[in-house]
Amino acid sequence: MRVFVTGGTGFIGSAVVRDLIEAGHEVLALARSEDSAASLQAAGATAHPGSLEEPERVREGAARSDAVIHTAFDNKSITRFPRNSRIERAALQAVAEVFAGTDRPLVAAGGFAPVIASGPVFTEDDLASSKAGPVGRNVERTIMGLAESGVNASIVRMPCVHGDGDRFTLPRFIEFARKHSTSGYIGQGENRLPAVHHTDAARVFRLAVERAVPAGRYHAVAEEGVPYRSIAEVIGRRLGVPAVSMSPLKARRHFGLYTAYAEGDGPASSTTTRELLGWVPEGPGLLEDLDRPEYFTS
Ligand SMILES: NC(=O)c1ccc[n+]([C@@H]2O[C@H](COP(=O)([O-])OP(=O)(O)OC[C@H]3O[C@@H](n4cnc5c(N)ncnc54)[C@H](OP(=O)(O)O)[C@@H]3O)[C@@H](O)[C@H]2O)c1
Repeated sequence: MRVFVTGGTGFIGSAVVRDLIEAGHEVLALARSEDSAASLQAAGATAHPGSLEEPERVREGAARSDAVIHTAFDNKSITRFPRNSRIERAALQAVAEVFAGTDRPLVAAGGFAPVIASGPVFTEDDLASSKAGPVGRNVERTIMGLAESGVNASIVRMPCVHGDGDRFTLPRFIEFARKHSTSGYIGQGENRLPAVHHTDAARVFRLAVERAVPAGRYHAVAEEGVPYRSIAEVIGRRLGVPAVSMSPLKARRHFGLYTAYAEGDGPASSTTTRELLGWVPEGPGLLEDLDRPEYFTS
């Protein structure tokens, strides 16, 4: 099938593009710059010029395709999440205008942290909070709303995603440890982060599109929960700084707006996803992957 991918130059989206092409699909990918178009073409995709801010371009891309995988989002500044979320909702609505009443699947990237709080292992059957998280974004609510209105829409909930090209969670933890010459964790550091390698996450998107069942909630979770303290210890050893327990108050100064990502205890399982999609993660675990010089070179 021909799949329209947004965010195809990103950390997760570029793995999605590679995986789709390797599996024999054709990829049309949204490109908001000439550089992005060139790298998509080099990956074997066809570039579709436009951005999320241009819903008509998104609509055209969807109209030319059998399925949409949406991974584009501007994660650079957490304070801009509310604005960027509005832009994202309008872009998803543009896809919905083309796909409503058809069986063409729309599969979007969602997340866990910091939407879920500490508690039992979170499963695909558990509903995410109906409120936007502390950073003001809840793409899952948008997707499930579209599914209720007749769009074959599904969500892939992603935990901490790691691998080459990672620029979100782990690089930020490394940056804070560098800045403060301390690799912090909160209390005993027993709070757990679920995790997945980006190539494994990419396969969940493809399998979800191929399955094409509406209102799917999938967990791209390879590891149910990696204790935060072990992450801080790898970072500390690699940077040559101490891994240190902190009070929640001190952690707020250390992690700033990203405290929620370091303090949440959100173990999550993927039993249903594995059964429904036949998904078996193959990539390295978080600690093995993090413990490479590539994460510490910048
Ligand atoms: N990384 C994680 O650990 C993680 C965990 C959970 C959920 N997620 C979610 O997964 C999705 C992908 O994350 P990622 O880590 O792959 O992000 P990323 O590496 O920052 O990639 C973002 C992608 O979105 C594109 N993009 C951003 N703003 C755009 C706009 N206004 N119009 C068109 N394209 C735009 C970028 O294009 P350019 O190349 O042109 O900049 C890039 O292709 C996001 O929704 C993120 O919240 C990520």
